[in-house]
Amino acid sequence: MTEISRMASKALLVAATLPSALAWGPLGHETVALVATEFVLPETRAFFQEVLGDNSSTDYLAAVASWADDWKKTDEGAFSYNYHFIDALDEPPTSCNVDLERDCGESGCVVSALANYTTHLVQSELNREEREIAAKLVIHFAGDIGQPLHCENLARGGNDIAVTFDGEATNLHSVWDYNIPEAITNGSTRADAHAWAADLITAIRAGPYRCKTRNWVAGLRVDDIEDVALRWARESNEDVCTVVMPEGAEVLEVGDLGGEYAEGAKGTVKLQIAKQGYRLAKLLDAIAQAQ
Ligand SMILES: *[C@@H]1O[C@H](CO)[C@@H](O)[C@H](O)[C@H]1NC(C)=O
Ligand SMILES: *[C@@H]1O[C@H](CO)[C@@H](O)[C@H](O)[C@H]1NC(C)=O
Ligand SMILES: *[C@@H]1O[C@H](CO)[C@@H](O)[C@H](O)[C@H]1NC(C)=O
Ligand SMILES: [Zn+2]
Repeated sequence: MTEISRMASKALLVAATLPSALAWGPLGHETVALVATEFVLPETRAFFQEVLGDNSSTDYLAAVASWADDWKKTDEGAFSYNYHFIDALDEPPTSCNVDLERDCGESGCVVSALANYTTHLVQSELNREEREIAAKLVIHFAGDIGQPLHCENLARGGNDIAVTFDGEATNLHSVWDYNIPEAITNGSTRADAHAWAADLITAIRAGPYRCKTRNWVAGLRVDDIEDVALRWARESNEDVCTVVMPEGAEVLEVGDLGGEYAEGAKGTVKLQIAKQGYRLAKLLDAIAQAQ
């Protein structure tokens, strides 16, 4: 092989072995952040505007919400790759569960990473740049942990389950990261995230989520954050059995998921985004208050 074709085939190999999608897309992360922005205390806002070096009142969290997905692709951030998910070794749809010991491992996972960077932000031994990174990671991981397929090992979190959505070939993980959120908002821009967040904020303040928020953040404390994050991961993982693939993965590989399947999943996606946004607000409050 020539050097060029060797490089080309190596690039292909790398492309083929890397999961094609690894997080709620920017839309999902930005919406989580915008919901959180609405519910943080004024002193929390001031604290994180300072940590993030951004005095915008509306977008200081949303602007950095998906930064971690770019950072993990750099040499500097590559070590954080496993921190975006937890590979629950359960057996959906028969049995869903997360076992921290079994599923997180020494390389770390979204549960241990969310706890780790929260703790770092509370103990203020970090320098300016490290604090900013820790804040961006907490904002991001609070979103990832709410995506059911980030809390599942099967077929690499659904990346290896080939499906069709509105006539386009894709995979189940991407459907949950991108297609369903974009079907909810009819777009993927920051403006779409603002519109979606406004709907979710209304549902939290005066709609169907209103009576649930107390439960969402029950027991949320920074000194118990790993247990809290584990509970969040377990809720997401439970959705894998009940909503993502209640009849197993094979049935999803035939037909198109853009119709009935997406309609059936939208409620869960909205709930997960709203819930994680509200939880992120309370987590950021707790971090700011612990300073
Ligand atoms: C944000 O506002 C604070 C307080 O007014 C100011 O000290 C700081 O320089 C501002 N930061 C940026 C990035 O504009
Ligand atoms: C915890 O944070 C430190 C950086 O402060 C990092 O080196 C380490 O990889 C992190 N571990 C996990 C599991 O997040
Ligand atoms: C998206 O489009 C659908 C169908 O055209 C419509 O029912 C829905 O209200 C739109 N959603 C938003 C958030 O604009
Ligand atoms: Zn991610």
